[in-house]
Amino acid sequence: MKTVAVVGTQWGDEGKGKIVDLLAADADIVVRFQGGNNAAHTLVVGGEKFILRLVPAGALHEGKVCVIGNGTVVDPIALIEELDKLRSHGCLTNDGTFKLASDAHMVMPYHRAIDRARETRLGGRAIGTTGFGIGPAYEDKMARCGLRFADLADFKSFSEKLERNLADKNLYLKAVLKAKPVGAAGLIEQMKTVRRRLMPYICDTAAYLDDAIANGRRVLFEGAHGTMLDIDHGTYPFVTSSSCLASAVFAGAGLAPGSLEAVLGITKAYTTRVGGGPFPTEIKGKLGDRLRTEGGEFGSATGRPRRIGWFDAVLTRQAARLNGVWGLAVTKLDILTGIDPLKICVAYEIKGKRCERMPPGDLVTHKIKPIYEELPGWREDTSDARAFGDLPANARRYLKRLSELSDVEIAMVGVGAAREATIVLNNPFLN
Ligand code: GDP
Ligand code: IMO
Ligand code: MG
Repeated sequence: MKTVAVVGTQWGDEGKGKIVDLLAADADIVVRFQGGNNAAHTLVVGGEKFILRLVPAGALHEGKVCVIGNGTVVDPIALIEELDKLRSHGCLTNDGTFKLASDAHMVMPYHRAIDRARETRLGGRAIGTTGFGIGPAYEDKMARCGLRFADLADFKSFSEKLERNLADKNLYLKAVLKAKPVGAAGLIEQMKTVRRRLMPYICDTAAYLDDAIANGRRVLFEGAHGTMLDIDHGTYPFVTSSSCLASAVFAGAGLAPGSLEAVLGITKAYTTRVGGGPFPTEIKGKLGDRLRTEGGEFGSATGRPRRIGWFDAVLTRQAARLNGVWGLAVTKLDILTGIDPLKICVAYEIKGKRCERMPPGDLVTHKIKPIYEELPGWREDTSDARAFGDLPANARRYLKRLSELSDVEIAMVGVGAAREATIVLNNPFLN
């Protein structure tokens, strides 16, 4: 297959970055199509750790083209910093290996200020956003007052729009949110630097991808966040402000429906989430703390401790259905070594009734009781396993049960953070 999307099936941080980096070896082009620098995708290559926030996780492979599509919201300063860091490691140095959609929207300092002031004002009811201005930037896109990279071409008109927006946002910050306004000083100068630094990459990425696909090039689409953070199908309002499903590839990269051949769903062998919101299988206390420590479950974007839970098959079934998942990549199996027994949530009990699907509306109001199945654990270290048969029998049994309950075949298994610590059963690009 030549066009493949990677999506998260839980609440983000499933290990998408590692799998995208692995698959990028067989792709020509890697594309981000939604979200912004609220994403943090960790890659461990040659013993070194890289965290990518905006640039697609194909950047560590020489000669691969990395594209930021029109469906994203991009903080231009954060992008410049990320590009500089990657370049200092010798990445993306070839001409034409980085492209930025002219129609992608910019995240401005006033978006970040609004995001943070709103969260402060919400107090105990806060969403727990990353604070990077993602929601307010998407709001402006929908309200048709956002600034796009294409606007930089006419800098006079760009500056006028920016000044109008800044004045409006500062009124809102002061009068409604009772927060400090954002200073205008230096903003226009900063945008001149943005124009100079980013102009060479700005182009019609949809047309570029259309030609590339027509010419038989292999394209990998890198989803950010996770299905349960999707604005429509996630645990609203504790979600992000974009669509995180595979279907967002079409609008967010400018492709026709039908141009995607396979969707790989990334799922952790247990569950995590960062920020507020319902979490039916959450584990509190010592076991949760142990998994958090052993799994290094601290947000790479904000450093916040991630909440930990058992594997929730109701959630992955739903994600598999919404994304049309072709295969699952189960990550972090190694972290479960020594935990016995292991629990899997197979269904929810709501008002005494067994439910196989997630209920609509606010999950909290349903007072969900997870129905668990227990499986025996294993003690053996799995980190050197490179074939399914290398895994302990109980680990294989656990994986087979995850696959049955999610109704999807397993394509890959992660047994460590490094690129090579992966069992590849089925590579979609070689299929
Ligand atoms: P993403 O946002 O989905 O790309 O995931 P993150 O990078 O935020 O979080 C996943 C974390 O788990 C990172 O620290 C990865 O290096 C790490 N990781 C990914 N896959 C595995 C795995 O199979 N085993 C272990 N131990 N760590 C993994
Ligand atoms: P990756 O791509 C985990 C969560 C935030 C918060 C909610 C809204 O690394 O998997 P936002 O700043 O987007 O308005 O915050 O969404 N969130 C993530 N959680 N991983 C992510 O990305 C996330 N992106 C957003 O914690 O609960
Ligand atoms: Mg992450």
